[in-house]
Amino acid sequence: MTEQGFPVEQIDTSRPHPARMYDYYLGGRDNYEVDRRAAEEVIRMVPEALVSAQANRAFLHRAVRHVVGKGVRQIIDIGTGIPTSPNTHEVAREVAADVRVAYVDNDPIVATHAGAKLINQGGASFVLGDIREPEAILRHPRIQGLIDFTEPVALLLVAVMHFITDEEDPAGIVATLSEALPKGSYLVLTHGTADFHGEIGEDEDAREVYKNATAHLTVRPYDEVRPLFKGYELLEPGLVQASRWRPDDAVRESEEHRKVSFYGGVGRKV
Ligand SMILES: C[S@@+](CC[C@H](N)C(=O)[O-])C[C@H]1O[C@@H](n2cnc3c(N)ncnc32)[C@H](O)[C@@H]1O
Repeated sequence: MTEQGFPVEQIDTSRPHPARMYDYYLGGRDNYEVDRRAAEEVIRMVPEALVSAQANRAFLHRAVRHVVGKGVRQIIDIGTGIPTSPNTHEVAREVAADVRVAYVDNDPIVATHAGAKLINQGGASFVLGDIREPEAILRHPRIQGLIDFTEPVALLLVAVMHFITDEEDPAGIVATLSEALPKGSYLVLTHGTADFHGEIGEDEDAREVYKNATAHLTVRPYDEVRPLFKGYELLEPGLVQASRWRPDDAVRESEEHRKVSFYGGVGRKV
C-alpha cells in the first residue's frame, strides 16, 4: 500500500497506460515493457512525439512560473502524470514558496508515487480522480481542504484533454471546472494536434496505438481547442504551438521545436 492507501498490486501491466508512455517519452523509468513497446510504436509513426513531450513539459514550467508571478498561490493540476522533476509545486515554489498544489490523476501509478514525490513537502495533496467526473473532483475533501475557491486558482489541464473523446464532452468538463473558479483565475492548457504536420496517415496512425491503451487519443484542430477557453481572455501570444508560447531564448529559433504537435495557451478568467 502507498501513503494514499492505494494497493500497488492493482497496477495493470497488461495494457499501455498514457502516463507511463509519457514517462518513457520524457526519459523516465516508471514504465513497463507494454508501455515501452506502445511508445516506440508511436515514435516510429510520429517521430516528433519525443520533442513534443519535452516541449509540452517546458511549456508547463513557463506557464506555471508566469501565473505564479502574476500572484496565483493555488494550483489544481489535473492529469498530473508520473512525477518528473521539477514537478508543478517545485516550479511554482521557485517563484513563491507558499504556493499550494492539488494534484489529480486517474492512473493508480501516479498515486503510488505521489506520497514520496508530490506531497512530501506539505502544502500539496493528491486525489486519484477522473476528469470525466469534474464535480467529484471539486467536491473531494482533499481539494476542498487545500483550495480556497474565493481566491484565484490556476487550473492546469496540460496534455490531458486529448484523452477525452467528443462523446465525453471536453468543453462541458472544462466549463464545469471553470465555473467553480473566481474571476482572475487562470486556465493553463495544452492539447495534441495534427495542425502543424498535416493529417496523420490512416494506416500509420498513432491513435491506433492508444486504442489499446487505457485512454484513447483525440488530437484536435485549432477550432476545436480554442473554445475550451470560453470565459477566459487568452494571454499573449494566444493559443499557439506550445513551443512558441513565450519561449526561452534557447528554444526560440530551434529547428526541433517547429515539430511540436501541441497547442498551448493560458487564459485569465473574466
Ligand atoms: C501526457 S500525461 C501529462 C502529464 C503532465 N500534465 C504534463 O503535461 O507533463 C497525461 C496524464 O493524464 C492522465 N489522464 C488521462 N485521462 C485522464 C482522466 N480521464 N482523468 C484524469 N487524468 C487522466 C494520465 O494518467 C496521464 O498521467
